[in-house]
Amino acid sequence: MNILAFAASTSSTSINKALASYAAQQLAQRVAEPQVTLLDLNQFNLPLFSEDVEKEIGQAQDAANFLQQIAQADVLIISFAEHNGSYTAAYKNLFDWASRINPQVFQNTPAIYLATSPGPGGAQNVLAQAVASAGYFGADVKASLSIPNFYDNFDLATGQLSQADLAEQVVKLVETLL
Ligand SMILES: Cc1cc2nc3c(=O)[nH]c(=O)nc-3n(C[C@H](O)[C@H](O)[C@H](O)COP(=O)(O)O)c2cc1C
Repeated sequence: MNILAFAASTSSTSINKALASYAAQQLAQRVAEPQVTLLDLNQFNLPLFSEDVEKEIGQAQDAANFLQQIAQADVLIISFAEHNGSYTAAYKNLFDWASRINPQVFQNTPAIYLATSPGPGGAQNVLAQAVASAGYFGADVKASLSIPNFYDNFDLATGQLSQADLAEQVVKLVETLL
């Protein structure tokens, strides 16, 4: 199974990247021949989207590369960082460029959506937006989960969720992809 996981963040210390990686490991332990690809959105260099720039440069190669990564995946694990109640600008920019090449950005790939933040809200706002709009973009979201108070619930030294009940919820989440 080709598992593509990424955080919708470009932070080098992204807590959503840690969470996406953890969930990908949980899934990998439960499938035959897992191939985990952990994408870093910093690898996609794109100008700020505008229709004017699009007229100048046409389709952006790195957005095509992002779509190609999704095309090669059997399943997707995305963990959304929340900035001011919504997507990070970097993710939204990549998403906008990609949607101009293929509006079905997620190409009907089975997916789970996660989100986390340091606070009690657990990035629920952005997660709700991502889930609510999924159908418009070819996202086959099997389940979603927000993890609140990241630093209280996740052990960065081991890369594991430290709360048993949350760890169980992540297992149930990844099992929807089996
Ligand atoms: C500009 C900005 C806006 C933020 N807005 C929110 C927010 O609306 N809700 C929230 O829970 N956290 C918010 N945060 C805190 C982020 O959840 C926190 O920085 C988190 O580490 C981002 O995820 P990441 O580490 O995966 O990038 C914000 C952070 C920044 C820098």
